[in-house]
Amino acid sequence: MSVLAVVGAQWGDEGKGKITDWLAGDVGTVVRGQGGSNAGHTVVIDGESHKLHLLPSGILRSEVLAIAGAGMVIDPEQLLVELEQLGDSRGKLLISERAHVVMPYHRLLDGAEERAKEGGAAGTPGKGIGPAYGDRATRFGIRMGDLLEPQTLRERLERVVPRTQALLDYYGTGDRLELEQLYDLAASWGATLESSIGNASLAIAERLDRGVLLEGAQGVHIDIDHGIYPFVTSSSPTPAGMAQGAGIAPGLIERVVGVTKAYVTRVGTGPFPTELEDATGEHMRDVGGEFGTTTGRPRRCGWLDMVMLEHSQRLCGFSELAITKLDVLGGLDEIQVCTAYETPHGRLEHFPASMTLLAECTPIYETLAGWPALSPAEWQAAAAAGSLPAEVNDFITFLTSRLGVPAGLLSFGPDREATLRLR
Ligand code: IMP
Repeated sequence: MSVLAVVGAQWGDEGKGKITDWLAGDVGTVVRGQGGSNAGHTVVIDGESHKLHLLPSGILRSEVLAIAGAGMVIDPEQLLVELEQLGDSRGKLLISERAHVVMPYHRLLDGAEERAKEGGAAGTPGKGIGPAYGDRATRFGIRMGDLLEPQTLRERLERVVPRTQALLDYYGTGDRLELEQLYDLAASWGATLESSIGNASLAIAERLDRGVLLEGAQGVHIDIDHGIYPFVTSSSPTPAGMAQGAGIAPGLIERVVGVTKAYVTRVGTGPFPTELEDATGEHMRDVGGEFGTTTGRPRRCGWLDMVMLEHSQRLCGFSELAITKLDVLGGLDEIQVCTAYETPHGRLEHFPASMTLLAECTPIYETLAGWPALSPAEWQAAAAAGSLPAEVNDFITFLTSRLGVPAGLLSFGPDREATLRLR
């Protein structure tokens, strides 16, 4: 019996999709417990790139059961698009009857609320995630199981539509919600997806002996409780949040893989102490292809931040790290790593809750030697032989010894082959 969690240790986009796909070869079930189509996972198999937003990455392996857990918010329209794109070359899918539905009005509200917040907007991709979780919390939500019960679905819509219309009117969007149209749409989703909707918690419990992988979406630092509030997502991308969302006892998680890039990126707004708005930042963005999978937006890039990672480690208890995109830093003379912050009020060792204080933080760096730029084939050959440039080993040792967590996987490129398993 083994449950393993793959967690984004930074702000999301750490390369969890690839790491999940790699580790999914060892398990029978892959579960997403939180988030929705705000996520963007790119998995490259035999040179072919697959972009997933809503479906667990495990769906790309035909022998795996992919589960969308109760803690997710599901946009059925997006789900059907992704299923169609994958065609027959995929595993089976089970969607929790308890997962909440992202309705078209959630997307409208997401846009309207972001616009209303002006400088305080989180920079959401507009997928309706916050409003869907909001309806869940205020008990106006519609669950996947409700799509299968005509009477329940109608009652839910009769309650939520007038309230949502009032909100849209308040924001002056000019949108008109038609209850019958929404009912027909939602009922048609239910009819199409009926055979995939069921009891996810029970299915996981029954499959524990074949190994279960909990696949995180987003990253610890946009956790609703522990992230850079209000520039956060509306769920908890921590092992605790993933266990809750999947419907398993947290104590069952035996192994927690923290995925971190060798540097840091961010797609949304909010303070970012190690951000580089110079040629090095450009290098990271260009070589690393740092453009959002969901929105195509250029990602903000900066040096690795140990203060962030120490906060992540406290929340997640990583048993090992997967360090990705080491190839991207190749060719830089020096590598900087932030180990503390300088503020007008003195030195800061721990990640602050206050965004005012975070905005005042100047990184204190340690400088390490850079490593050569190698071609993808050279990285793959070095990974296969286990003989990495000495400077890469020094960087890994610096990171892992400071954090007190060993490295389990190193990644040098998008392909499955550009991966080195150390443990
Ligand atoms: P939401 O999750 O769509 O509500 O967006 C809230 C914030 O989280 C925004 O700053 C998004 O850019 C960010 N965000 C949401 N999902 C991801 C992700 O998968 N990777 C990186 N950032 C994300």
